[in-house]
Amino acid sequence: MNVFGVDIGGSGIKGAPVDLARGDLSDDRFKVLTPHPATPESVVESVREVADHFGWRGRPVGVTFPGVVTDGTTRTAANVDNGWIGVDAAGMLSEELRSPVTVVNDADAAGIAEMTFGAGRGRRGTVILLTFGTGIGSAVFTDGRLVPNTELGHLELDGVDAEKRASTRAKEDHDLSWHHWARRVERYLAHVEMLFSPELFVIGGGVSRKAEKFLPLIGHVRAEIVPAQLQNNAGIVGAAMAAAGKAGSPAAETGARPTSSAAASD
Ligand code: BGC
Repeated sequence: MNVFGVDIGGSGIKGAPVDLARGDLSDDRFKVLTPHPATPESVVESVREVADHFGWRGRPVGVTFPGVVTDGTTRTAANVDNGWIGVDAAGMLSEELRSPVTVVNDADAAGIAEMTFGAGRGRRGTVILLTFGTGIGSAVFTDGRLVPNTELGHLELDGVDAEKRASTRAKEDHDLSWHHWARRVERYLAHVEMLFSPELFVIGGGVSRKAEKFLPLIGHVRAEIVPAQLQNNAGIVGAAMAAAGKAGSPAAETGARPTSSAAASD
């Protein structure tokens, strides 16, 4: 089954049809630049442009959003235009795209994909995916079941919002060395571990491609720490899975199916 996935990011809005059997894109993805200001109206129009590129209409679409989303309504806007707060994003998008649209937090989407097709596959217990980028996103799973909208990037650490100190944007803004930044990430992970005692941390976001530069520098954390595997496409794949209802299925919850083709057959 193919469902369309769209990932709304700070710099680009990317989308592609997703092959749910393989947990991968079934066509090259198409990207437009995120409009500035990224108001609901302008972003919704950009998402339509992406869907139109594939002639996608009247079929399910999953869309990520970098903030809290409950029942299709966007509730927070830490790194996007404040106009998103309290917006019926799923309703607006469904109307504009003339397709049924599901909206899901970006880190939750990435987590859903990683738990079924990537680094968290088959892992039980408490697994926490953290995405490091403009902000820090989190997806918390217990025995494969997602606790949505956990927002662990906004935990207070040393008196400030953790994502202000340990996101990759903080690394760039303050010109931190890998070593210096890894100290901050370590302190952040130790704090999250103190609260949740996960078995596994999955580190996502663009920086997961450079995992070898900072993961070996991180100590003082008991849990296993691994880079995400789906990297750039995790958001698109997870959004499509959420739209297909896979996020709530036992396969997606536990990642326990022996092969991905089996996972897609239901
Ligand atoms: C937002 C989260 C989001 C994360 C990554 C944070 O600032 O509050 O909802 O998942 O950034 O985009």
